[in-house]
Amino acid sequence: MRRGIALSAVCLLVLGVLTLVGPVTGTVPRAAAVENGLARTPAMGFNNWNATHCRAEFNEAMVKGIADLFVSRGLKDAGYEYVNIDDCWALPNRDGAGNLVPDPVRFPNGIKAVADYVHGKGLKFGIYTSAGTKTCDTLGFPGGIGHEQQDANLFASWGVDYLKYDNCGDHLGQSAQQRYTAMRDALNNTGRPILFSICEWGQNQPWDWAQPIGNSWRTTGDISDNYASMLGIFRANVGLAIDAQRGGWNDPDMLEVGNGGMTDTEYRSHFSLWSMMNAPLLIGADLRVANQAAYDILTNRDVIALDQDTLGVQATELSNANGLHVLTKPLDNGDVAVALFNETGTSAQISTTAAAAGLGNAPSYSLRDLWTKAVTSTTGAIAATVPAHATVVYRVSRTGTFATPPAGTTQVSALPASLSASAWGPVELDRSNGERAGGDGRTLTIGGTTYARGLGVHARSEVRYYLGGRCTSFQAWVGLDDETGNEGSVSLEVWTAGRQLATSGVVRGTDPPRRITADLTGVQYLHLAVLPTVDGSRYDHADWADATVTCS
Ligand code: GLA
Repeated sequence: MRRGIALSAVCLLVLGVLTLVGPVTGTVPRAAAVENGLARTPAMGFNNWNATHCRAEFNEAMVKGIADLFVSRGLKDAGYEYVNIDDCWALPNRDGAGNLVPDPVRFPNGIKAVADYVHGKGLKFGIYTSAGTKTCDTLGFPGGIGHEQQDANLFASWGVDYLKYDNCGDHLGQSAQQRYTAMRDALNNTGRPILFSICEWGQNQPWDWAQPIGNSWRTTGDISDNYASMLGIFRANVGLAIDAQRGGWNDPDMLEVGNGGMTDTEYRSHFSLWSMMNAPLLIGADLRVANQAAYDILTNRDVIALDQDTLGVQATELSNANGLHVLTKPLDNGDVAVALFNETGTSAQISTTAAAAGLGNAPSYSLRDLWTKAVTSTTGAIAATVPAHATVVYRVSRTGTFATPPAGTTQVSALPASLSASAWGPVELDRSNGERAGGDGRTLTIGGTTYARGLGVHARSEVRYYLGGRCTSFQAWVGLDDETGNEGSVSLEVWTAGRQLATSGVVRGTDPPRRITADLTGVQYLHLAVLPTVDGSRYDHADWADATVTCS
């Protein structure tokens, strides 16, 4: 289940979405989203808005200066790629042919010259307009509604790689889905890959419909350069993990790091939380005047690596008692990131365990503090004294000698998992997913057949077992649990590091159980992954029923 959406509404949405993208065939790409191949990890780059708004210092010299600094100050090497311009780049009126016209004072050489300059640095260039008759600045520049193809063609001709599409002006009676779909189609028609960033401030719950339309969608109103604003946006965005997937991300708005309204401690929390939440990392400070502390935060590669991790799972909140937050995020190499965020005004102890974070089957764990770089060891406890407004981020790795499965055929629900992650409720042993709490599921049931043993999870889910090369085969019955009724649409996939061993293809709520088997010869780690399909993850309660490994 998910946040109180009526089943019928979900059903309609799902049908609408499938109509848009055409039939889903037997094999899905890992975590399908808008089909433009972009943003397989969240976008990284720069946007001038938070630093300049519409002021005169937003001009060609600024954009070129940022591109220069991306290269000279190591930001490009750290992964920052897009140099984007926001509102106020155009004149208030279109020309006689209906084309947008760059402001000749800010951009005397036009936009293409700036895009060419940015491209010359090995970077990409982004632009802004609005899904209405006007853009958002009070001056109200022309928006894209009714001009989608003309504007998309113009952007493509300038070499634009990224479009932020805002929500201001008259919507001419069209829904958000209609307006954003029209621009997605226009961008696709240009033949140029253009990352599509939806900016409708979360007003129409875009996390429920935007996966096949955009590469990211703003989930909230605008951020301001103060702690209360950052905290409010974090709280609104942190519960939306289930809707983020490779190619389509929740966007809690651009970074304020370096703009001066928060302490360095608060900026480290901002950057840590945004990275844990797989946010697009768009620098919002004028790097020409930003201080060294801002550069140090923005180029912390260990923290960036969490945002850019190829497993593509947004952190979920394990607990948040009295403003003391524990966030966890599984990573593609089998590690887990744990963030301990103290939102309160006084220092506090925050703690959890490796097991609660989804790690297991190891005698010990190393904790690497991604800000101080200190490495410590633990047999399970993960704790820190966290100053007011601060965040401690650990990368937690399993260490020591790991147990392997016994000889013979063993139920995986009887084996200690090395990694357990499920987007809605924990991985249930010998029970269906249920809704939220451990043990709340029912007897595993697929298409009317019940199973005494197996795993009940919710997409996205990742469960891993250490086999140490000792096993020969995996076998299971898989499908959506009957507790979802007719809902749900996932693929259950068997992987080992970077290699798919077997897939169920797309299974839906009413499908009978499917048999899935995999050859495990030589496999060190078995990954059982459940991925949502392009219609997003709705009622995706999936079962690995009677799932066993055979080992020698
Ligand atoms: C809206 C957006 C901001 C910015 C401004 C520009 O407020 O949410 O991010 O683009 O418009 O006018």
